[in-house]
Amino acid sequence: MVTLPDGYPADAFEAFAFLKTRTRLDIEDLKVLAMIECYGEAFYQILAAGVGHAEARALLERNGAEERGHAHRVLKAIRLLGGEPFELPNAADNPFMALAPAEVPADAELFALLEQGELDGDLAYQAWADAEPNAEVAELYRLNGREETRHSERVVTARGLLAA
Ligand SMILES: [Fe+2]
Ligand SMILES: [Fe+2]
Repeated sequence: MVTLPDGYPADAFEAFAFLKTRTRLDIEDLKVLAMIECYGEAFYQILAAGVGHAEARALLERNGAEERGHAHRVLKAIRLLGGEPFELPNAADNPFMALAPAEVPADAELFALLEQGELDGDLAYQAWADAEPNAEVAELYRLNGREETRHSERVVTARGLLAA
């Protein structure tokens, strides 16, 4: 199990909120962020598993797959900033997975949270990009951020499909 740095909440959503208080992300922050993105992949997979509508499920699974892509961009940022290589832990070694739900109900409340959370995620990435002097790293943050807004749009589409 990877140990979280001091001060980090064990819940992935709370840890992300904590990361948002950082202006520029350091290597330790980036390791945490990479593990939160892996948690995001798992969260979407758990949510999608309970959705019977094939098209809606596919949209949620696509979001999940892209969260893993975000984790890989964060690993690249660690390398570009001169950090020691960091490998993504599997689920059993990811500390955030300890609090992962077994099921996620695909209800209106959850969709509203995800819709807003993804938009907030974009804003966070753009703010980190603005504070990052390494242009290549900043661009990786911007790419992740733009995709978080697309995730929000897919969540809205999936909710519409399920409500129809
Ligand atoms: Fe992400
Ligand atoms: Fe996302």
